[in-house]
Amino acid sequence: MRGIVLAGGSGTRLHPVTRAVSKHLLPVYDKPMVYYPISMLMLAGIREILIITTPHDQEQFVRLLGDGSQWGISLRFAIQPEPNGLAEAFLIGADHRAGGPAALVLGDNIFFGHGMTGLLTDAVSTIDRDGGCVLFGYRVSDPERYGVAVLDADGALVDIEEKPAQPRSDLAVTGMYFYDEQVVDIARGLSPSARGELEITDLNRVYLQQGRASLADLGRGTAWLDTGTHDSLLEASQFVQVLQHRQGITISCLEEIAMRQGLITGEDALRLADQMGKSSYGAYLRKAATEFLAGS
Ligand code: DAU
Repeated sequence: MRGIVLAGGSGTRLHPVTRAVSKHLLPVYDKPMVYYPISMLMLAGIREILIITTPHDQEQFVRLLGDGSQWGISLRFAIQPEPNGLAEAFLIGADHRAGGPAALVLGDNIFFGHGMTGLLTDAVSTIDRDGGCVLFGYRVSDPERYGVAVLDADGALVDIEEKPAQPRSDLAVTGMYFYDEQVVDIARGLSPSARGELEITDLNRVYLQQGRASLADLGRGTAWLDTGTHDSLLEASQFVQVLQHRQGITISCLEEIAMRQGLITGEDALRLADQMGKSSYGAYLRKAATEFLAGS
């Protein structure tokens, strides 16, 4: 399965901060926001990732992320000229790769929680085995801001609505989606919504109508963090800071994930740590790599 991180959009809700820099390159505590969705795809076992950005931001993404070989993965870059909607990611993706199953993570979505890796690898297995799509739901206090899932009494997914004025549940559909190889054809069949976008919710509804959509509830043990406003961005940073300080771990440290997945060696990780100067991120990586080498 291939991965896509969609990191375009206008970011107007964070102006003036995002007038000159992509929202997805802003720090969420000690690392750029885009590290978090990339980490989800790596934990899912995905090794080929397409990063979609606006035309003027691409250069900075390339400078930050390179070709991915430092993490044992392949990163490619594509442009979304205008924010024409999330489902356009698959049309852009099709221009860069031949079809196939794909996972999409929105560049501003941050997930953290116990059992996350298992949920991700289960989603990949489900698509490999049964096809269809796997979505993730998360209970929120403000469902009207999201795609909202409606379940029946048995917990089966029966409807999805995009930003309903009167939500029929508090279960938001998060910005992480796994699809079979039909996703490109289904995306091609979509028409722009009233707000002029190819909606991911419309794409998901096609899978749902075909009886081929499932939704996994992330549950209370997981954090799905919002980064859409100045306040929520600060709160996401504080969440990451508190957790990292308390547990002595670094969330979404891509070098550590690559090392533990055997994509790079402990020595590689040490070298990468040395390139981080005196940052606390680099110090953490140096410690993790040293312990890893001592244990191996
Ligand atoms: O975060 C989850 C929600 O994301 C879902 O619950 C909704 O169903 C889905 O429509 C989407 O809602 P938003 O309205 O919050 O999406 P937003 O326009 O804020 O864009 C989400 C990310 O995707 C953001 O990082 C910008 C990027 N983006 C957005 C659009 C519309 C693009 O790269 N290209 C685009 O065309």
